[in-house]
Amino acid sequence: MARILLTSGPTRQYLDPVRYITNASSGRMGAAIGQAALDLGHEVKIVSGPVFIDYPVGCQTYPVVTTEDMHRQVAELFPDCDCFIGVAAPCDYMPRRVLDHKLTKTGEPLQLELIETVDIVASMGAIKKNRQYVVGFALETEDRRFRAIAKMQRKCCDLIVSNSEAAIDSQLNNVEILAPGGITVACAEGSKQEVARVIMQVVQERLLQANL
Ligand code: C5P
Repeated sequence: MARILLTSGPTRQYLDPVRYITNASSGRMGAAIGQAALDLGHEVKIVSGPVFIDYPVGCQTYPVVTTEDMHRQVAELFPDCDCFIGVAAPCDYMPRRVLDHKLTKTGEPLQLELIETVDIVASMGAIKKNRQYVVGFALETEDRRFRAIAKMQRKCCDLIVSNSEAAIDSQLNNVEILAPGGITVACAEGSKQEVARVIMQVVQERLLQANL
């Protein structure tokens, strides 16, 4: 039994009390990975942004709103996990200034200055201990393979799951699982549940190997 920590869903970055920017993510892939991990007998914790789906009974869920909240919660849970999988689509940008009152329309164009949020997978990749396993997801519209491999290296991941934008808000997914050196470990296509089972099987085998 391994202790699996997942992020799932989108995060929100507010401009004012009522408006926010976000990423398109339903949380379905996170829920499917959570279920696949439970089915293999693992303990599962899910740190999730706001979603309209239910996570599997048996997963411990930690609701968060912003990328910073998600980072804080993950950083707290990470030392006690064997494997961290970043399935979420955290909002990568946040407004430099957040207003405490609703911005009033003026009839003029509005310019927003956005700054990057913290990268959760990269931060965990940077602090992981020998026996901890970090898996990232990559969603690219061009040069999928190349960019996924570059991301795996940059974020110090042990595996990366490359999927396309067709996965967004869909019941289906089509992924390539890549290991360091650009080796294709497995490909999977079908429902998110079927794809999640393949991903968790690969993770489990590699996690066990790493911990032998
Ligand atoms: O760089 P990009 O956002 O495409 O990377 C995708 C991977 O990084 C996913 O595993 C995603 O969950 C993670 N990520 C993160 N924190 C961010 C942005 C992405 O953990 N701020």
